Amino acid sequence: MRISVIGCGYLGAVHAACMAKLGHEVVGIDVDERKISELAAARAPFFEPGLDELLKEVQATGRLTFTTDMASAQGSAVHFICVGTPQKKGENAADLTFVDAATAALIPYLSPTDVVVGKSTVPVGTANRLAGVVQEAVPDAHLVWNPEFLREGHAVSDTLQPDRLVYGVTDGSEEHEAVQVLDTVYSVPMEAGTPRLITDLPTAELVKTAANSFLATKISFINAMAELCDAAGADVTLLADAIGMDDRIGRKFLNAGIGFGGGCLPKDIRAFMARAGELGADQALTFLREVDAINMRRRTRVVELTREVCGGSLLGQRITVLGAAFKPESDDVRDSPALSIAAQLQLQGAVVTVTDPEALGNAARRFPELHYEASTDEALRRADALLLLTEWREYRDLDPYETAAKVSGLKILDGRNVLDPTKWRAAGWTYRGLGRP
Ligand code: UDX
Repeated sequence: MRISVIGCGYLGAVHAACMAKLGHEVVGIDVDERKISELAAARAPFFEPGLDELLKEVQATGRLTFTTDMASAQGSAVHFICVGTPQKKGENAADLTFVDAATAALIPYLSPTDVVVGKSTVPVGTANRLAGVVQEAVPDAHLVWNPEFLREGHAVSDTLQPDRLVYGVTDGSEEHEAVQVLDTVYSVPMEAGTPRLITDLPTAELVKTAANSFLATKISFINAMAELCDAAGADVTLLADAIGMDDRIGRKFLNAGIGFGGGCLPKDIRAFMARAGELGADQALTFLREVDAINMRRRTRVVELTREVCGGSLLGQRITVLGAAFKPESDDVRDSPALSIAAQLQLQGAVVTVTDPEALGNAARRFPELHYEASTDEALRRADALLLLTEWREYRDLDPYETAAKVSGLKILDGRNVLDPTKWRAAGWTYRGLGRP
């Protein structure tokens, strides 16, 4: 099929490359010339394992092109809307400017029977409104909602082998014309057995926000347990192992630590609460306020613990923060708990050095006042205390004896509970985890 992908950020760039990999002829469109010229040269404008290789592979087939010209959407049978929906400045609600602008810009190039597929995460009700806009301009075209569940760091495999496909169509019926079109788009994963659910438009929009809210709640639940474990002298990692063995609960997303960040979970739960308020259903989601509060409290807790580990004062303490990205295998620092903790420590008088294998460029743009060091060895040199805040493999694998020879003070705070406390203590370190005795 000929497919256009509008918006070539995280979601769109990966989606465009993956659709070409599935055999379609794809044009990726974005207003950002820098992004387009990078992608056209088969370079991902952000770090995502496997994406550079995939871009090279599919561009060599001639099936994937990139442009800033929306007119190139003309002639595609399917148009994916993959633009961002950030949090509005000073408000919890989602900013729909880009979704509205992309739809309006696309309309002049739509032909009858074309299918416009929304993938961006939007407040429930948006798809119905946009379906009206499309229908009014091109009565025989369709708008459907097909949420995306990709995780950064696993985006390529999550797109090529998704857990499930959700199609939201106006009448919620299997017979809707657009269903067959999307089945053709996804014929490869469907043949591999990926389950596919047909819903109405609002349900499809809610599937995405409900899934992210559940994940955020799971993380905040275990972080609340970590607070209790701290108070009671118990171990949250063993607690998580034990409750996680109940498959109704499951062990995934039960890692207590410095909390969740990134471009999705924090903004999505806030936008969800804002939307529930508009719909008069705010009570249903007041628990998400607590989920958010528990999450933000983790950052203050780590600053306090660091002060404790440093003997009561942060003033002049040389602290090395291992990790700036919001999670490993990503260079994304949006709402990164690691960076927010580093900035608070510096504000309170510590001399902070931040290191990360991929995210330093983005981190320096967001927090130019912090000191960055690309080499882990250099970053460790003469540190009074270490904070492991993003669990990159190379930090998990640090050897406590070799590390001890590089630093000034043998103090480590493991913000992700990924190190073996016995090993580190045996090597002479003061080890602190979160919710671990
Ligand atoms: C999330 C959803 O997982 C994905 O399905 C959706 O499409 C987009 O949002 P992502 O933002 O890439 O994906 O990150 P995710 O892997 O969910 O992690 C989010 C945050 O939670 C990270 O900061 C991570 O470090 C933290 N986390 C995750 C924990 O603190 N504990 C855990 O057990 C799991």
